[in-house]
Amino acid sequence: MSYAIVYSSHTGNTALLAQALKETLPQTGCLYYGAPDARALAADIIYVGFWTDKGTCDAAAAQFLQSLTCQQVFLFGTAGFGGNDTYFAQILERVQALLPEGAQCIGSYMCQGKMPQSVRERYEGMEDSPRRTAMLENFDRALHHPDDADLLRLKAAVTR
Ligand SMILES: Cc1cc2nc3c(=O)[nH]c(=O)nc-3n(C[C@H](O)[C@H](O)[C@H](O)COP(=O)(O)O)c2cc1C
Repeated sequence: MSYAIVYSSHTGNTALLAQALKETLPQTGCLYYGAPDARALAADIIYVGFWTDKGTCDAAAAQFLQSLTCQQVFLFGTAGFGGNDTYFAQILERVQALLPEGAQCIGSYMCQGKMPQSVRERYEGMEDSPRRTAMLENFDRALHHPDDADLLRLKAAVTR
C-alpha cells in the first residue's frame, strides 16, 4: 500500500506531528510528503495534518480533503485549546464531514499546540474574569505542546 503525508502548518506545531509520522511509517511506499498537493492523491492511504482555525481545519487542509476521491485517510491535527477530548472530537467531526463520500477515515489524532505570544497579549488586555483566567492558563499549558508524549501517542495511534 502506498501512502502520503500531507500537512498544513502555520506556526510549526502540525509539522512536528508530520515529522514524527515520517519517522514512524516505513520509508518504502511513501509517495509524497509535504504541503497539500495533488501529487499526494495517487497514494492509497493519505495522512492529512491540519491546524485548527475557528473550530475546524484550516482552509488549505479543507481544500485538500475535498479533493480526495476514494483514498483511506488518517486525520491528525493540533489546536490551541486542549486537555479536552470532547473538544477534539467536535473538531474531528467537522473535519470528517468535509470528506467526499468515497474517502474513508481510518483513524485520527489530535493534540494541543502552542500559540503565538500575541494571543497571550490579547488575553492580558481583556477585563479580568474567570474566562480570561482560564484562557491565560490554557495558553500557558499549550506552550509545551506538542511534547514528546503527544508524539508518542500519535505514533501509537497510527500503528494500531
Ligand atoms: C488565526 C488562528 C485561528 C485559530 N483558531 C483556533 C480555534 O478556533 N481553536 C483552537 O483550538 N485553536 C485555534 N488556533 C490555534 C492553532 O490551531 C494552534 O496553535 C495550532 O497548534 C497551530 O498549528 P500550526 O503551528 O501547525 O500552525 C488558531 C490560531 C490562529 C493563528
